[in-house]
Amino acid sequence: MTTITGIPPLPDLPLPPPAARRPYVAINMVTSADGKTTWGPENIPPPGAGPTIGSAVDRAWMKTLRSGFDAIARGAGTVRRHPYYPGLPSTPSPAGTLATPPQFVVFTRTGELPLDSRAFRESPRPVLVVAGSLPYQQRQRLEKAGAIVWEFGQGADDDRLLAALSRLYQEAGVRRLLLEGGPHLNHQFLRLGAVDELFFTVAARLIGRSGSLSLVEGPDWLAHLRLELVSVYQHQSELFLRYKIHG
Ligand SMILES: NC(=O)c1ccc[n+]([C@@H]2O[C@H](COP(=O)([O-])OP(=O)(O)OC[C@H]3O[C@@H](n4cnc5c(N)ncnc54)[C@H](OP(=O)(O)O)[C@@H]3O)[C@@H](O)[C@H]2O)c1
Repeated sequence: MTTITGIPPLPDLPLPPPAARRPYVAINMVTSADGKTTWGPENIPPPGAGPTIGSAVDRAWMKTLRSGFDAIARGAGTVRRHPYYPGLPSTPSPAGTLATPPQFVVFTRTGELPLDSRAFRESPRPVLVVAGSLPYQQRQRLEKAGAIVWEFGQGADDDRLLAALSRLYQEAGVRRLLLEGGPHLNHQFLRLGAVDELFFTVAARLIGRSGSLSLVEGPDWLAHLRLELVSVYQHQSELFLRYKIHG
């Protein structure tokens, strides 16, 4: 276990190889010290709180971490709330292994996505939408906005996630997938045992408000999963934690 004081240096962050038939999957999230990942039910920061739960260092860290992955995935709830392409560092990181920008992948059952937003307009590659079974017109709307649509039928969520991971690996060449929430999509991936590591920042603030979401939200227990602390970085009063997930 590594404990380091200072800004987290990505070059010191070796990412493990992918599993046999799916990408290596890591989650990255930020929580307040009271474990909240959203600002209450409306998720609107109070006056003076700043734009995000984490600091500017955390925002820079998120970008740096992304540069080690070949796909960034988000749930539709997060994309509707933050409709932009996940930013990358302005200067290439020494640990960034990618010749092309990461593939942005959005998971949706309904296909209800903000197609005229920056998420779709500013993505350097067509956004890949992983969906269930969409009405024909909905699929057309997405494709007209430049998205690539993978439909996996009306089946169970679990089957869809596993099929999508396998297709990302085999067809799209995705070897490392960074899942950036939200909490409900995190829950599904974790419950399926499809997450290898968890990166999360504990921001030096309290939110307090009821109705906020935590890192993971869903109907089932995840108590069988065991977390092994791999590293802790500290920058001022903010902590950058990395856990390996077993089970
Ligand atoms: N603090 C942080 O680090 C952080 C990070 C990310 C997000 N957030 C916050 O989290 C909130 C959103 O999180 P959330 O948990 O409500 O939503 P979410 O997990 O981002 O998205 C949930 C949606 O994903 C789609 N989905 C889920 N499972 C799926 C499956 N198996 N197959 C296909 N699509 C699937 C569905 O989309 P449809 O409804 O379109 O069918 C579902 O409604 C936002 O307020 C955001 O600010 C915080």
